[in-house]
Amino acid sequence: MPDATPSFDADIRPLFREKDRDSMIRMFDLWSADDVRAHAESIHAAVSRGSMPCDGPWSEADTALLRRWIDGGSPA
Ligand code: HEM
Repeated sequence: MPDATPSFDADIRPLFREKDRDSMIRMFDLWSADDVRAHAESIHAAVSRGSMPCDGPWSEADTALLRRWIDGGSPA
C-alpha cells in the first residue's frame, strides 16, 4: 500500500544514521519518535532545504516520506 501512512519504527527511524543521531543528540534524539515529533517541522525544513545532514542531502523520496509521516499524524 504505497499511500499508507509511514510509521516511525518501520519507515522514519531508518532514515537517520547513527552518525546523524550522534551529531544531533545535543538538540534532539533522532531515534526517538517523541523527539522527532516535537521537532518535526524544523527537521523537515532542514532536510528539504538540504542543509541537513551536513554531509549530503536526502533524496526527494525520503523527504516526501517524512512529510507524509508528519501529515499522517506521526504514528509510532
Ligand atoms: C538527517 C539527519 C539530520 C537532521 C534531520 C538534522 C537536523 C538539524 C536541525 C533541525 C538543526 C537545527 C538548525 C537547522 O535547521 O539547520 C540542525 C543543526 C545542526 N546540525 Fe544537524 N541534522 C542532521 C544531521 C547532522 C549531521 C550528520 C551533522 C554533522 C556532522 C549535523 C550537524 C549539525 C550542526 C553542527 C548544527 C548546528 C548548526 C547551527 O548551530 O547553526 N547534523 N540539524
